Amino acid sequence: MNILLLGSGGREHAIAWALAKSPRTETLYVAPGNGGTAAVAENVALDMMDGAAVLDFVRAHDVALVVVGPEAPLVEGVADVLREAGVAVFGPNADGAQLEGSKAYSKAFMDANGIPTAAYAQFDAVEPALEYVREQGAPIVIKADGLAAGKGVVVAETLEAAEDAVRACFDGAFGAAGSRVVIEECMTGPECSLLCFVTAGKSFPMAPAQDHKRAYDGDMGPNTGGMGVYSPVPIVTDEEMAEMVRIMDVAAAATARNPFTFDYRGTLYGGFMLTPKGPRVVEFNARFGDPETQVVLPRLESDLVDVMCAVAEGRAEDVRLSWSDAWAVCVVLASEGYPGAYEKGKVILGIEEAEALDGVTVFHAGTKRNADGELVTNGGRVLNVVALGATFEDARDRAYEACELINFEGKQLRSDIGAKALRGRSAWE
Ligand code: AMP
Ligand code: GLY
Repeated sequence: MNILLLGSGGREHAIAWALAKSPRTETLYVAPGNGGTAAVAENVALDMMDGAAVLDFVRAHDVALVVVGPEAPLVEGVADVLREAGVAVFGPNADGAQLEGSKAYSKAFMDANGIPTAAYAQFDAVEPALEYVREQGAPIVIKADGLAAGKGVVVAETLEAAEDAVRACFDGAFGAAGSRVVIEECMTGPECSLLCFVTAGKSFPMAPAQDHKRAYDGDMGPNTGGMGVYSPVPIVTDEEMAEMVRIMDVAAAATARNPFTFDYRGTLYGGFMLTPKGPRVVEFNARFGDPETQVVLPRLESDLVDVMCAVAEGRAEDVRLSWSDAWAVCVVLASEGYPGAYEKGKVILGIEEAEALDGVTVFHAGTKRNADGELVTNGGRVLNVVALGATFEDARDRAYEACELINFEGKQLRSDIGAKALRGRSAWE
């Protein structure tokens, strides 16, 4: 069958790589794709935010399944347009995507279903918000309601920082996303992502993963889209895992029941904090995580096309997942200056040598071919170097060995991915 995947990041390269392995895949298109997806699929210039244009492409190219990578087209309703036309789509409709698209909506969903999360209040005006912050005191968390490309959250350590964040939101720092503000209790503990396939009110957990959001070693520096990740997560206890799975089951069941009848078909991403009182949901996302996908999908032994078709068609009984017991570690190679300003167009060398190492796969995040056919940097996060190993240490050492072999001017990476996990739970205290 022909498949169309929307998106252009490392997550999409990992999804494309897994779809391309299936014997059921005939032509795989990625719109717009990147320098890495071009090696496993056909990149097409198509505006993924334009549902009508995507539908035209689907009809013209006999596409039987559309997989939506990022949140923006989901929130925009691209899946709705395709579904109404009878196309099988992996990814929720716009109403289901509100679980990610509106923090206030997501919190209401959690409250209505008894899902453990941080206590919160929401405000549409600056003065009552400031008053609430002064009442509650710091530390406290300020969130712009809408999609803000991962930048709309401030964990304020002082009252002054909290008040500044509230004012910045209402002053338009995050555009329309900040006209409503959610203010939350500050939780503590390690974070853990649990991505689940959800269809027909049923949840099918993937392997847990842990991201590293700060730019520099020792969890210092600014927040990023993610500098490294591993799966599974050795510090998660069996009780915590069972509780996360239970919470995702509750969430999935709620998507198929009034008043939240979304008929959700896609990935539901639970972002958890493992607090002293047990796992609490920090956020839901309506899509695969980036870079979590890059360590989760290489461990999936089932055929991803079978799984995605079953999810897209609402056939929960046909979703079967089997996982390898290998460990996976991913180190992100970024451009100098990221997450601030950075230059593009630096020639990348050594990927083939890196991939010649046992168990190593390099997913492209921000790359492209230049006019001379050279692979060059084209984004802040450039490459995701993933290694599988029989032990956590094996996978990590192999990933770093591969990183050494890859070069581009200004290559920036964290040297401590997985270090905290090896020190155990006390590393978070
Ligand atoms: P979000 O965009 O909701 O995932 O938030 C981004 C990051 O902010 C999370 O990954 C957490 O590290 C942090 N964060 C969000 N909400 C809270 C909270 N209530 N307490 C502590 N940290 C939080
Ligand atoms: N890795 C965080 C996210 O995908 O939102």
